[in-house]
Formats: sequence, structure tokens, C-alpha cells
Amino acid sequence: MSVLRNSLLAGARSTRMRRVAERSRLVRPLVDRFVAGALERDAVATARRLTDEDLLVTLDYLGEDVVSADQARATVAAYRSILKIVAANGLGANVEVSLKLSALGQSLGAGGEQLALDGAMAICAAAASAGTTVTLDAEDYTTISSTLEIHSRARAEFPWLGIAIQAYLKRAEADCQDLARAGCRVRLCKGAYVAPESASYKGGAVGDSYGRCLATLLSSNAYPMIATHDPAMIDAAKSLIAQFQRSRDSYEFQLLYGVRPDEQRALSAENRVRVYVPYGDEWYPYFMRRLAERPANLRFFVRAAASAATGPIRRSGASVGGGK
Ligand code: FDA
Repeated sequence: MSVLRNSLLAGARSTRMRRVAERSRLVRPLVDRFVAGALERDAVATARRLTDEDLLVTLDYLGEDVVSADQARATVAAYRSILKIVAANGLGANVEVSLKLSALGQSLGAGGEQLALDGAMAICAAAASAGTTVTLDAEDYTTISSTLEIHSRARAEFPWLGIAIQAYLKRAEADCQDLARAGCRVRLCKGAYVAPESASYKGGAVGDSYGRCLATLLSSNAYPMIATHDPAMIDAAKSLIAQFQRSRDSYEFQLLYGVRPDEQRALSAENRVRVYVPYGDEWYPYFMRRLAERPANLRFFVRAAASAATGPIRRSGASVGGGK
């Protein structure tokens, strides 16, 4: 299964697979399960529906791996725009945003990190005006030190800026110890990327690492954001929450839009629960990571992609090569 998972994660970067997925009408319903829609109004409508059910939301504007500073600036503009709409709709208390520094130009070479820091600061300022917060997603393992550095610099002005930590990385526990400070908002997830064996855990060792990181965060004054759908991790978190007598407003669970919606509602009876809601045109890499997490999603996708490859994609081959 891990070979398949790695292939799918590699497929997230494949233009050919992307074309197949984008053209398949059969893939669309599966995408709609995980993505709120292409437009800001789709994102806000979904956020309103979820907040009406007493769930919190973090909105993620889909876009990563930008190739120019202009694209990075366009991402900043998109976040500022959605934050204005969040505020105008009176959703600031319950709806924050998540962002990927790669979408702000972090990997653009010389000057990329500064560009990403400037962009993150501008988005944080817009979030502050909207009365809400921001969380930085964790991406490829090569970017983690830079993301932590940008987080630390931006936190000097915006102490509520959150950050995601991936338990599959061997460095996660030490990073959690560094972040286990009063008020520090830390989202703990297993990790949706691939890293070399020297830097990462596999299989059950990821869950063990998740448990150690959870204990570090829940025994501290940090604000842990427990991002998982795994029943074993959720149970472990509940035990630690009871053991450390955490008050309801001192932590939250987080789950992805479209994944275990019944559990989202069940958990929210006794805990704060935030749903991560992606929106925008650039759904493909996000969607491929969700497929890699679940064999059942994958089987559906392979069937749909195979039928697309023998249908419309073959007929349109000439036009694809012809400059689309
Ligand atoms: P696991 O993968 O073991 O799933 C447990 C169960 O949940 C499965 O058996 C299934 O029932 C259900 N499930 C899980 N994924 C599913 C899916 N895609 N479709 C359907 N059912 C599914 N990663 C990262 O690298 N950087 C980040 O910043 C974030 N941010 C983030 C935010 C939030 C709110 C969440 C919930 C997750 C992330 N992730 C992430 C993704 C995370 O790292 C991880 O890949 C997924 O959450 C899957 O791991 P689980 O802990 O859910 O367990």
C-alpha cells in the first residue's frame, strides 16, 4: 500500500494525471466531497452551513508551488479578499484561514522566504482586522525549518499565528517541545507527504510519535489543535484531555471537510471542532493527497480515471499538445 501511496503523492505533481483528473466527469463528485467549490461564495456558503451547526472552520485557498512572485502576490490578494468577506458576513469569530507558504513563494529561490514572510504578515494583518486567526500548513519536509522560522518571526507581531506539525517526521517531538508554550496554537497531524527514512517514521511508529507529541502539547500551556480522523488518536487525545484537565476552550479537534462528517458532529457535543475547508480552482494536489490516505477513495478514482483515459482524454490529445 505504501508503494501505491507514494505513487499517488508523486502523481500529485504529474501534469498528465492532472489533465486526466480535470477532464473526468466521474472524478468531479469525489472532488466535491473534499472541496467546497471554486469560488469565494462557495467557501462562505459552506462555512456558514458548518458554523450554523456549531462547528468552527478554517478556510484554505487552494494553490501551492507558485512559480512567480506575481502568483504569490495573487495568493495574498485572494486571502485578503476572503477575509474581508468573512468579516462582512459576521463569521470572524468562528472562521479562520489556513495557508501554505509555498503558495506565497517560499520556494522561489533567493528572496522567496522574505516574500513568503511578507505575504504571511499581510494575511495576518487582514485576519486581525477580520477578528480571526491564521494557521500555517506543514508541507514537504525540506521546507519545515523555513516554515518554523517564518512562524517565529511573524508571531512576534501576531502571537496567535498557528502552525502545523507532522508527527511522521522524526523532528516532530522536538518541534512540539519548542512550541509547547503559553498560547502557542499548534496543529498536530500525521503528515500527508513523503520524506526519506532517515527523517521519517512509517506505519505504527507514526501513531506512536503522534501520541508522544499529543502528550507534550496537552501537558503544556499551548493550544493544541488535534487534527486527525483516526479513532485511536482521537481516543488517546480524549484520555490526555481528561488526565490534564484541559478546559473545553483550551484545545480543539480538527477534521477535513468531507471526512468522517458524523464524527465531526459527535465530537462537537463535548469539544470545540474545526473543519478544514478547501476552496478554489487548484484542487488537484490537495485531492491527490486525500486519495493517498484512503484505498476506498483510490479505487473509485482509478475506475473514473481509466474510463476518462479511454474516452475524452484520448480524443483531445491533439489539442492538449496544441498549446492548452
Ligand atoms: P488515518 O489516515 O489513519 O485515517 C483514519 C481514518 O480516517 C481512516 O480509516 C478513514 O476512516 C478516515 N480517513 C482518513 N483520511 C481519509 C480520507 N482522505 N478520505 C476518507 N476517509 C479518510 N497534513 C500535512 O502534511 N500538513 C498539514 O498542514 C495538514 N493539515 C491538516 C489539517 C487537518 C484539519 C487534518 C484533519 C489533516 C491535515 N493534514 C495535514 C493531513 C494529515 O497529515 C493526514 O494525512 C490525514 O489527516 C490522515 O491521517 P489521520 O490522522 O486522519 O489517520
